Amino acid sequence: MRIAVPKEIKNNENRVALTPAGAKEFVKEGHEVFVQQHAGVGSGFTDEAYEQAGAKILPTIESTYEAGDMVLKVKEPIAPEYGLIKENQLLFTYFHFASNEPLTRAMIQSKAVCLAYETVEKPDRTLPLLVPMSEVAGRMAVQKGANYLEKPLGGRGILLGGVPGTLPAKVLILGGGIVGTQAAWMAAGLGADVIIMDVSLPRMRYLSDVMPKNVKTMMSNEYNIRKLIGSTDLIIGAVLIPGAKAPHLITRDMLREMLPGTVMVDVAVDQGGCIETCQPTTHENPTYTIDGVLHYCVANMPGAVPYTSTLALTNATLPYALALAKNGWQESCLHYPELGSGLNIVKGDVVYQAVAQTFDLPYVPVSYYLNQH
Ligand SMILES: NC(=O)c1ccc[n+]([C@@H]2O[C@H](COP(=O)([O-])OP(=O)(O)OC[C@H]3O[C@@H](n4cnc5c(N)ncnc54)[C@H](O)[C@@H]3O)[C@@H](O)[C@H]2O)c1
Repeated sequence: MRIAVPKEIKNNENRVALTPAGAKEFVKEGHEVFVQQHAGVGSGFTDEAYEQAGAKILPTIESTYEAGDMVLKVKEPIAPEYGLIKENQLLFTYFHFASNEPLTRAMIQSKAVCLAYETVEKPDRTLPLLVPMSEVAGRMAVQKGANYLEKPLGGRGILLGGVPGTLPAKVLILGGGIVGTQAAWMAAGLGADVIIMDVSLPRMRYLSDVMPKNVKTMMSNEYNIRKLIGSTDLIIGAVLIPGAKAPHLITRDMLREMLPGTVMVDVAVDQGGCIETCQPTTHENPTYTIDGVLHYCVANMPGAVPYTSTLALTNATLPYALALAKNGWQESCLHYPELGSGLNIVKGDVVYQAVAQTFDLPYVPVSYYLNQH
């Protein structure tokens, strides 16, 4: 199969969908890999590194899309890319169709096969191609929080771990899933006093088994949150209710009960945020302050660490991409049911029910295409 890797052109996107190590795996299995010039530079990979791995470098985005039976990307195609996508071409990338009607209609029109990272879902309901980005964001949340707690940046001026003879900072993490767990490891490692709140007892039992002694768990409810916020230095929002807007666990009035210079990092901002006063921000302008409480609400945190994010993402996507190249999308989707749930649009038909419902489009069950095989 011919694999094409274009350079991402979405604003501030420095990740790339394939590393030189990944390119080598494709080449070893007899596939051809075409990488657009400078596609990997933002993540630290030179054109020469891809060439040494056996890939061919193409000069333009047009020639790269043209070369591929399968296009590997990170972000959804944006308008200038719509016309480059060919009928029957397989696109494997994040799409987030339900929040983007023009993209949905453009991909229907292209008659391409659109396999979305974000809906690849295992039978236990985990999302293996979203987990790596949650891991990055969770770890980053503590780095950011520790940084913004410094006085010149608007924080309380407290060192997360303290020093001998002083108490460490108090960190409250709302949600003990992937983001919350990774944040807890980081904060605990720096010596902070950490509390994770969740509503799932099995999850808290697990966390209390595996976490170090400076991490405690507590049931998430308004009473407990109000009890803690007056003495907490850093609050991290990491709640997810799949398919729904995040609940507002920190309400506007609670800000007045907090210490001036408290820092809140709402990682759940992409689902509306679990802090009522959360508004999406960007890496260029990441924070704002309300009632003396500093808010950090960047919606694409992993974008700031493209080297790590690219490696983390491609570690998860590569086995699937190799299977797709070896067996084609139909056989691969039958073999790995989670890949089947990644199919969103196939040759002009919407095969993912939630997307069809969102835009009132006709829905064709994915089995229609897989059973033809
Ligand atoms: N901003 C970014 O750059 C970025 C990057 C990655 C992920 N995210 C977002 O971070 C959020 C968390 O993702 P995740 O992968 O950790 O999800 P997850 O499903 O692994 O964890 C969510 C946790 O929230 C808990 N929860 C649900 N309701 C709760 C409540 N009322 N109080 C406390 N806990 C509650 C669940 O029990 C679960 O343990 C998601 O919204 C995700 O989209 C943002």
